[in-house]
Amino acid sequence: MVSLKTEVGGVILERPGMVASGIMDETGPSMVRMLENGAGAVVTKSVGLSPNAGHANPCFMEVTSGYVNAMGLPNPGIDLFKEEMDVAVPKGKIVGSIYGATPEDFSTLAGRMEDYGACAVELNLSCPHAKGYGMEVGTDPTMVKAIVSSVKDAVSIPVWAKLTPNTHILADIGRAVQDAGGDAVVAINTLKAMVISPEFARPVLSNKFGGLSGAAVKPVGVRAIYDLRTVLDIPLIGVGGISDWRDAAEYIMAGASAFQVGSAIGTVGIDVFDRINKGLEEFMSDYGYQSISSMVGVAHE
Ligand code: SIN
Repeated sequence: MVSLKTEVGGVILERPGMVASGIMDETGPSMVRMLENGAGAVVTKSVGLSPNAGHANPCFMEVTSGYVNAMGLPNPGIDLFKEEMDVAVPKGKIVGSIYGATPEDFSTLAGRMEDYGACAVELNLSCPHAKGYGMEVGTDPTMVKAIVSSVKDAVSIPVWAKLTPNTHILADIGRAVQDAGGDAVVAINTLKAMVISPEFARPVLSNKFGGLSGAAVKPVGVRAIYDLRTVLDIPLIGVGGISDWRDAAEYIMAGASAFQVGSAIGTVGIDVFDRINKGLEEFMSDYGYQSISSMVGVAHE
């Protein structure tokens, strides 16, 4: 009998696929809907200390094989987000994604997410287009270590760190997370990208550049997980361009104990998790894998 159950970074998931931060996770009812449609957990939209309107429109654009967004971390702020958590947490596992500029910001937000019932926190150290946040703090290993240490001291739930592919020191950043006691690394966030309108002779997005997600980034994400697996002992969570069971299997075989799906909720539909779960079960049964853990990292052997 094949089992999709997996343990990653201190969290046990009945199914290995989670909703990635940023889609169908801004409201309690949308998170519940995803839990009811095969997601093992939902990672919330990244939430900050105070309400943030985000970047002006246009902030989202479909491109070949993906999307480019520069939403600008819009969110109601941690106080109001309690209402959404109150709806979602009783229905399943919710991971609280948070962003900030300093270790204190992150530890305060993590404490609030713990109070709200999050099963883990995911530190957004990787948004490529929010000034003062995301990869601006997440590409300095000393800062990453300080943030993760401070959050570890502040909460008792597991602490995951979501890293950027927009760096040549991904391994050093991963080591900083591990050295500070982080429970898992999540990779990757979006690739810094731009779209230009020939007619207007201008960048399309109001922020000029944004982040590319979707099928186009999958090989970059798989490579990142493969590389991180060679240098880290803590568990990994793969994200970037997963839309079917084959994509999920690639990430698992590269070294991920679980995975997240974002853009494909838009391109495939909300049944994407049910489809992936069914496809993975059939593949595992056909190829003799009894569990997710028996598949993790096999591409390295
Ligand atoms: C956004 O809200 O701008 C996207 C968040 C991210 O890329 O982490």
